[in-house]
Amino acid sequence: MIELMPIARQFRLLKDEILREISDTIEQGSYILGPKVAKLENRISAMIGAGHAVAVANGTDALVLALDALGIGTGDEVITTPYSFFATAEAVSRLGAVPVFVDIDPFWSLDPERVEAAITPRTKAILPVHLFGQPADMDGLRSIADRRGLPVVEDACQAFGAKYGGQSVGTLGIAGCFSFFPSKNLGTMGDGGIVVTPDAELAKRLRKLRQHGSSKRYYHDAIGYNSRLDELHAAILLVMADHVEESVKRRRAIAQTYDERLRSLGSLLEVPGTEERRFHAYNLYCITSPRREEIREALTAENIQTGIYYPRPLHLQRAYASLGYAAGDFPVAEKLSAEILALPMGPLLTEQEQERVVTILQNIAEKG
Ligand SMILES: Cc1ncc(COP(=O)(O)O)c(C=O)c1O
Repeated sequence: MIELMPIARQFRLLKDEILREISDTIEQGSYILGPKVAKLENRISAMIGAGHAVAVANGTDALVLALDALGIGTGDEVITTPYSFFATAEAVSRLGAVPVFVDIDPFWSLDPERVEAAITPRTKAILPVHLFGQPADMDGLRSIADRRGLPVVEDACQAFGAKYGGQSVGTLGIAGCFSFFPSKNLGTMGDGGIVVTPDAELAKRLRKLRQHGSSKRYYHDAIGYNSRLDELHAAILLVMADHVEESVKRRRAIAQTYDERLRSLGSLLEVPGTEERRFHAYNLYCITSPRREEIREALTAENIQTGIYYPRPLHLQRAYASLGYAAGDFPVAEKLSAEILALPMGPLLTEQEQERVVTILQNIAEKG
């Protein structure tokens, strides 16, 4: 079996280092918001050049808390992409605000050209997603946001290690949200997340929100959340963080090989597009093909896993029926969901495994 994301390999490889950190956590005797969470927050701020980092329970909460800390709530509108994991829009809805979808650009992220027309007096933020590890068009989005006085919150959950114009994603807006879900570029063996921000006041509000709206024990200034990163996960993440740069490098090398080997299969499939300014961190490597099902079946028959991210765009999800969107509203996103296919990807995917995937795709193309 060639796994879509060989995740366990990463943890097994680092098992001794991880066990040492876990053992240290047991000895230190502090399990919630202890020294390892603080150390991880500092480490991540330093790694990506963020002013402040506030660790929370998961990436969804990172989005909810960031939007909440910005004062977004009932009746407000947040412009976002219909092509993402559900959590992006769910975070907006969870606060009583409304996700306003606009279609995606040729690089599969929120299209700045379409954002302006969606702005209304109720618009309170723009929420781009760095999908699959590819940065959104932050120049385009920021120029509209700046002109219209709107904050940009980045959903960087899939994009640790990605950069836009040389700057780490997550640090290009007022807040950047990351997930530490196991399959992410920087992941733990459970749930975790972090919000980064250049704004000290916002960081302070986030710290309060994650701890029941409290900065002094048993005194509560706001209705908050119980959303903290466990000390144990911080311990694991401190180990994983030491290796994340190398693993993103490896992901990029694997993507380059796929690009080089698959680009010539033009009539069968297209490789994902990128640009110089978008330093793609390849959490996923997705091709598109009108013959997706055939490709998928051929790979499955050879015991090779693939994935469809995502079979249904957000505006067509049942949970959003009340928003009144219909099929045909966002043709770029809808076509993508019909043709996209994720191929095996991960820092520990072997050359032989990748070669097998490529060979099968070449065989399909040759058969025509
Ligand atoms: C784009 C995107 N946003 C948000 C999330 C939510 O992160 P989590 O699963 O850690 O809550 C995810 C991940 O699963 C994601 O891929």
